[in-house]
Amino acid sequence: MIEISGLSVHFGGVCALDGVSLRICDDVAGIIGPNGAGKSTLVNVLSGFVRPSSGSVLVEGTDLLSLSPHRRARWGLSRSFQKVQIVDDLRVEDHVQVVLDARQRTRHEREKTTRDVLAYVGLTSRAGALGAELNQFERRMTEIARCLAAAPRIVLLDEPGGGLSEVETARLRAVIEGIRPRFGAQVLLIDHDVDLIRAVCGRTAVLDFGRLIAFGPTRTVLQDDQVKAAYLGR
Ligand SMILES: Nc1ncnc2c1ncn2[C@@H]1O[C@H](COP(=O)(O)OP(=O)(O)OP(=O)(O)O)[C@@H](O)[C@H]1O
Ligand SMILES: [Mg+2]
Repeated sequence: MIEISGLSVHFGGVCALDGVSLRICDDVAGIIGPNGAGKSTLVNVLSGFVRPSSGSVLVEGTDLLSLSPHRRARWGLSRSFQKVQIVDDLRVEDHVQVVLDARQRTRHEREKTTRDVLAYVGLTSRAGALGAELNQFERRMTEIARCLAAAPRIVLLDEPGGGLSEVETARLRAVIEGIRPRFGAQVLLIDHDVDLIRAVCGRTAVLDFGRLIAFGPTRTVLQDDQVKAAYLGR
């Protein structure tokens, strides 16, 4: 359960989030909205990259904003980035291993976790490939594998479908749908692909100019006139 109350973020004169309140309990919840609506800003606030000017966030009863970013990660908050963060000369398995705390796990456990999450996202045969050798889909999957390796309770995915083909999006969909049953984590999915959102998100929030303009069952939200005008019609 993620409880967001009165969250506001200002960048100079820009109000990126304007008093957003949301209670999210779905296995997979969606966040949509036009470019610049504040979606990534919301993820950045949750993960600790951006400090809000007001508001609070409770995750399973924990006051998230009182924790430093690395404590949030240790608590079980994982995220992927809209602009993938892949290092050219690191191997796929190294990208995953970096999030595994050497103090808490033996080398054997770290290797097993890495193998498991890479198998889950379909990258077993690419474990030794360098970042520079990966296509966009493999980059996205490496980021998701890294999220899952960290024993997450909440996974924030910022446009994981960006730049993927139809076939790749279908594979991404299966990966997202399996996260709750397989790893026990709640997923917050930002994406511009409305078909993907419709397929996997129980409920969906819509942001427009930093304001929450709709939140409810995904099918209902996607038929809302205000949502269509703000987003789908563009
Ligand atoms: N670090 C920053 N400094 C200044 N302005 C920012 C910063 N980050 C975001 N903004 C502004 O805040 C607003 C919301 O941006 P945000 O990136 O959250 O939108 P978004 O919904 O993720 O858009 P997109 O679909 O294009 O990814 C935009 O006007 C953006 O220009
Ligand atoms: Mg964004």
